[in-house]
Amino acid sequence: MRWRTGAVLAVGCVLLWSGARTRSVWDGVYTEEQAGRGKAHYNRECASCHGEALSGGEEAPPLAGDAFLANWNGLTVGDLFERIRRSMPQDNPGRLSRQQDIDILAYMLAANRFPAGKAELESRGEALKQIRFDAAKPRQAN
Ligand code: HEC
Repeated sequence: MRWRTGAVLAVGCVLLWSGARTRSVWDGVYTEEQAGRGKAHYNRECASCHGEALSGGEEAPPLAGDAFLANWNGLTVGDLFERIRRSMPQDNPGRLSRQQDIDILAYMLAANRFPAGKAELESRGEALKQIRFDAAKPRQAN
């Protein structure tokens, strides 16, 4: 019986540990100030195609709203960051710095009505991969 108790405890610990480590976009992962900086970059670098209200243009898809949320639901903020780093702005990918891109990402989170928090979103890939992109607010167990 002993080993069973041990196994159950071990599994419990792993679950607790992973629960504490992963965050979601609902946990206040950027600051309002950062989103403000991002807005300025966005208007200069992205709005010509994606629209000032992030609602999309003739060819570019929206970056806010239901369709956008559905596209990214279940992925991570790291995935979205990589997508921007690799392919945007479409007419000159990679032109912006990591800091500019992460600020723009903060602005996109704000535009999609995810709450702001006390700490800025940082552009470290590993940390970003720990933040789930959940379109709907997950139910809290606690
Ligand atoms: C020259 C026009 C143009 C500019 C400027 C531009 N984009 Fe795009 N963007 C597109 C087009 C067209 C697509 C869809 C085709 C593709 O994926 O390449 C797209 C797709 C995207 C997607 C994927 C959306 C989804 O739901 O899959 C993201 C995210 C994105 N752009 C972010 C940005 C950001 C951030 C900027 C500014 C740094 C930017 N784009 C600037 C044209 C543009």
